[in-house]
Amino acid sequence: MKNPLPFDPLYIVLALVIAGFGYSTYQLNETAVKLGLTTQELASTTTALEERQVAMSDELYAATQGWQAIQSRLGGFENSLGTLEKLSKTDPELLQKYSKVFFLNEHYAPERLSQIEKEFTYDESRPERIHSSVLPYLEDMLSDAQKAGVEIFVKSSYRSFEEQSKLKSAYSVTYGAGSANTFSADQGYSEHQLGTTVDLISKGQGGELAGFEKTAAYAWLQKNAYKYGFVLSYPPNNAHYVFEPWHWRFVGEELADYLHDREKYLYELEQRQIDEFLATLFD
Ligand code: DAL
Ligand code: ZN
Repeated sequence: MKNPLPFDPLYIVLALVIAGFGYSTYQLNETAVKLGLTTQELASTTTALEERQVAMSDELYAATQGWQAIQSRLGGFENSLGTLEKLSKTDPELLQKYSKVFFLNEHYAPERLSQIEKEFTYDESRPERIHSSVLPYLEDMLSDAQKAGVEIFVKSSYRSFEEQSKLKSAYSVTYGAGSANTFSADQGYSEHQLGTTVDLISKGQGGELAGFEKTAAYAWLQKNAYKYGFVLSYPPNNAHYVFEPWHWRFVGEELADYLHDREKYLYELEQRQIDEFLATLFD
């Protein structure tokens, strides 16, 4: 049959195929552009999210630091309050330097006294009393010494103003005032009036304090007393009295430790240095 058209229909088919192909390419391009945009959008959203995450973690870190600073300030504040409270409850006389330096009036007495267990006193028929807060430190010390095979007893502990006055008068009569002044405090100047001080002795000394420095008891105390808060008040060549190896005063574990580490005696410190240990006296 003859072709009625002025051109070959094959051209129409060809044109349709070309147009279809063009359209598909256009569609593909459109999709690709759209996809491209979405990917860009996705990338920028991810970047924004990452930046926000970093910013948030920075903010969180700053907040944590701030909270820690607040907590540490609160802790410091609580500590100061605790220290103030302890200071307000602790008798400042307990760490004063007395020996001829500072004076206790005739009415001064420790706020509470307790009787020392008889097994620790030299003369069981003579009850000895000590500041109630010091009692556990003293009994721990004497009982640990006992466990270590060293017997140490309390010969004398708390003495009131009145008792010290009588004792000093008696010594002055027996030895003369000059001599008595070298080993016995006037009333008001004795650490014994604080109730924190003890004269220690061991059996086999015939009841005499003199010579205590040669005993195993003294050697043990020199090595261990500071661990229980006790220190020797009058070492050899001190400025106040003769060497009194028997006379031990409770100053608290922290101050005793401080003195022990530095090989110093209480009376060698300034009073203001000593006062810094008042809040921890019974810790
Ligand atoms: N023996 C000491 C100095 C006193 O009497 O307190
Ligand atoms: Zn004494």
